[in-house]
Amino acid sequence: MDERPQFDAKFLVGVDQIDREHRQLFEIAARTYDCVRAGDATAQAGIRSSVAELIEYTATHFVSEEGLMEASAYPELAAHRLEHEHLLSRAYDMEMRAEIGDQSMPMELPRFLYRWLTEHIEASDKKFGAFMAARRQD
Ligand SMILES: [Fe+2]
Repeated sequence: MDERPQFDAKFLVGVDQIDREHRQLFEIAARTYDCVRAGDATAQAGIRSSVAELIEYTATHFVSEEGLMEASAYPELAAHRLEHEHLLSRAYDMEMRAEIGDQSMPMELPRFLYRWLTEHIEASDKKFGAFMAARRQD
């Protein structure tokens, strides 16, 4: 997260609900970025709470995305769900390490989450978008 996260057309998946939730994720990530940039003592609390919010909203978003995939009988749902599960278990693990005082974690966690989310949107969520677009044409 070297630049302030900003939603961009290249992240559009083409499914309204997913795109709306992704925008929200970017907004939370941008808030986290601002706290990291502020870098003072009060920023630490801000980083912690915005990262917690980012993880929580990510989990909520995954449930809703998987619901859409299930409803449309998406054949790659199982693999996609596994990707989501891996991310969440890593994020929870990093969050726990931050809580027990690992100094590098509060900075590393938002960077890791943001990188993962953008790569996941471009590689995996867009596949689902393409699947939905093809279905609409049938
Ligand atoms: Fe996804």
